[in-house]
Amino acid sequence: MLIGDTGFIDLPKAGRGKVREIYDLGDMLLLVVTDRVSAFDVVFRELIPFKGQVLNSISAFWFEKFKDLVPNHMISTDPLTYPEPLPQYAEQLAGRSMLVKKAQMLPAECIVRGYLEGSAWKEYQTSGTVSGIKMPEGLRRGDRLPQPLFTPSTKAESGHDENITVEQLKDLVGAEMGAKLEDLSLKIYESGAAYALERGLILADTKFEFGMLDGEIILCDEVLTPDSSRFWDLALYEPGKAQQSFDKQYLRDYLETLDWDKQEPAPGLPDDVVEQTSARYLEAYRLLTGEDLPGTVTGA
Ligand SMILES: Nc1ncnc2c1ncn2[C@@H]1O[C@H](COP(=O)(O)OP(=O)(O)OP(=O)(O)O)[C@@H](O)[C@H]1O
Ligand SMILES: [Mg+2]
Repeated sequence: MLIGDTGFIDLPKAGRGKVREIYDLGDMLLLVVTDRVSAFDVVFRELIPFKGQVLNSISAFWFEKFKDLVPNHMISTDPLTYPEPLPQYAEQLAGRSMLVKKAQMLPAECIVRGYLEGSAWKEYQTSGTVSGIKMPEGLRRGDRLPQPLFTPSTKAESGHDENITVEQLKDLVGAEMGAKLEDLSLKIYESGAAYALERGLILADTKFEFGMLDGEIILCDEVLTPDSSRFWDLALYEPGKAQQSFDKQYLRDYLETLDWDKQEPAPGLPDDVVEQTSARYLEAYRLLTGEDLPGTVTGA
């Protein structure tokens, strides 16, 4: 079942992202991952089969995997256990939704970078630094950094997030909290990246969001998904240029063939782009978890 919107849920929406819909249930939230896809911050009309289930299930997989390292917000992904009136939507919500504990979100995006790409590559080219930290000379685009770096940013309500230094983060959330966020973020990244690498995926960088609940830091939002992270195919890794995105490359390659200014309105996507992109998400799920997404068979 393809889901582009959750208008079928008879509750007021508490939030709507490019991909997810959020419902406020008092001390809990329901996060629903749709099959929407975005590129260059523009959301397309076409839906990507299984994308919602893949993203939600990958997050659930990592929450479970890291639960001894850091507590998290996940309560359940089984719609039949959700509070009323949600169980009646079990068929639509199955696999693509998560009931979570509502936390007081910390006002920072906890980004970890293991490789030189994106805004870090831009900064390095102008100043030889990443997040204000001096880097060795001669690094190429896509090179592995000497060690993973914690490069937080603000969470802008509108417009683009702004990179901040760890010192600025500490001014924002307190020195002890800032240090804890750095430590936790690096540990989760390192563990996830090592795991992914064994399965043929480079976790180039990622973003975590943490919140406070009962005086404790908990891992919230989504974790190490293709939407919150850059995943690269290890077999195709070739530093010195832009790397292929594991999940969105087919879509981006197609978009580059168009005369499109990367602003709304989004162009229509041909069926093969939709199908190939879906196949990439299913492959990412299979590689990371070692299993086919329930209800799908990818074959050999
Ligand atoms: N456990 C939680 N408690 C409270 N808020 C949470 C929790 N987990 C995630 N959130 C918040 O829910 C929101 C999820 O929104 P979502 O990521 O879909 O959209 P967005 O961040 O506004 O936009 P984008 O689509 O660009 O990511 C974020 O604001 C996130 O901080
Ligand atoms: Mg978000």
